Amino acid sequence: MLDTSQRGITFTGSGAAAPESLLSNDDLSKIVDTNDEWISSRTGIKTRHIASPEVTLCELATAAGKQAIANAGITAAEIDLIILATSTPDDLFGSASKIQYLLGATRAVAFDLTAACSGFVFALVNAAQFIRTGTYQNVLVIGADILSRWLDWSDRRTCVLFGDGAGAVVCQATKDGDRLLGFEICSNGAQNDCLNLPFSGQSAALSETVSIAKGTYQPIFMKGREVYRFAVAKVPEVIEKALFRADRTPEQIDWLILHQANQRIMNSVADRLKIPPEKVISNVASYGNTSAASIPIALHEAIASDRIKPGDLIATSGFGAGLTWGAAIFKWG
Ligand code: UT7
Repeated sequence: MLDTSQRGITFTGSGAAAPESLLSNDDLSKIVDTNDEWISSRTGIKTRHIASPEVTLCELATAAGKQAIANAGITAAEIDLIILATSTPDDLFGSASKIQYLLGATRAVAFDLTAACSGFVFALVNAAQFIRTGTYQNVLVIGADILSRWLDWSDRRTCVLFGDGAGAVVCQATKDGDRLLGFEICSNGAQNDCLNLPFSGQSAALSETVSIAKGTYQPIFMKGREVYRFAVAKVPEVIEKALFRADRTPEQIDWLILHQANQRIMNSVADRLKIPPEKVISNVASYGNTSAASIPIALHEAIASDRIKPGDLIATSGFGAGLTWGAAIFKWG
């Protein structure tokens, strides 16, 4: 039944999960020609969580989702919709339905959303549309990725950057004001070749007239410098646009939570927006780049440690493959 009386969106619970195994920069220096000095100074990353073979994306996402639901003070059975932002599902047909089952979210419809490292922001904006139209009351947004399974572990330009994890947020309908104050989401396929995890196949003849491509997905390829330039140019711009829609200024932001790709990118964006370092939330040192999971993990840690409090104004921005990028301005709680 469409309920249009509760059109605002509020954010009521967060959760996160990461695999136990840790891989340090020193560990990596025994795998490829790299060192702690290079990785730390160029990226800020010190260590990352890596999923062992038996860990599944569904398990990580379910653990994060369960925590977010508990923190929101509701039950899984009350969830109407689950949006899983991921580029690394356990199953290419999608992993959201399995998570719906594992959570016991028996009433929920669930689907995957792919927008790489922008996935969480895109999913949050999607959740808001369903809530604002009155279609759903309780939406679980999960960002989860296990990129370690799609890295070339002999390529030092990429394998040092990524880690695995999951984060989640419960969004609920409210009559008491809308806490998503502004957003902007963007794509530019012209730069698609800068960052890929592409299918590659060899031609195999099925009959005299029909051939198919037989193959699999190839490890992550990235033109690092180009993606860096894209990020430092587009992220401040998209945050400014979202702030304009929110009728807020950078000075009013309590916390800046960017996709955790590189500490230098975070510093540059904060500088451009004149946001002081103490308002920038960063955990890239201990997680690396966890793609769609990076923003909700950072958000959850800041809430769990009482840094972010109800009513705080947060600017968040995701950016990455596609290329895609986006920003959301919201009040927690
Ligand atoms: O989540 C999606 C979004 N992704 C991003 O935001 C990533 C954006 N890009 C970046 O963060 C940076 O471009 C990187 C951290 C990936 C690379 O940093 P950089 O300062 O742009 O380095 P570079 O690619 O220009 O490479 C500089 C040098 C090269 O050597 P030469 O050609 O100058 O002799 C690389 O071969 O560093 C070398 N290098 C390494 N050396 C030691 C590249 N990777 C490594 C490594 N260890 N792991």
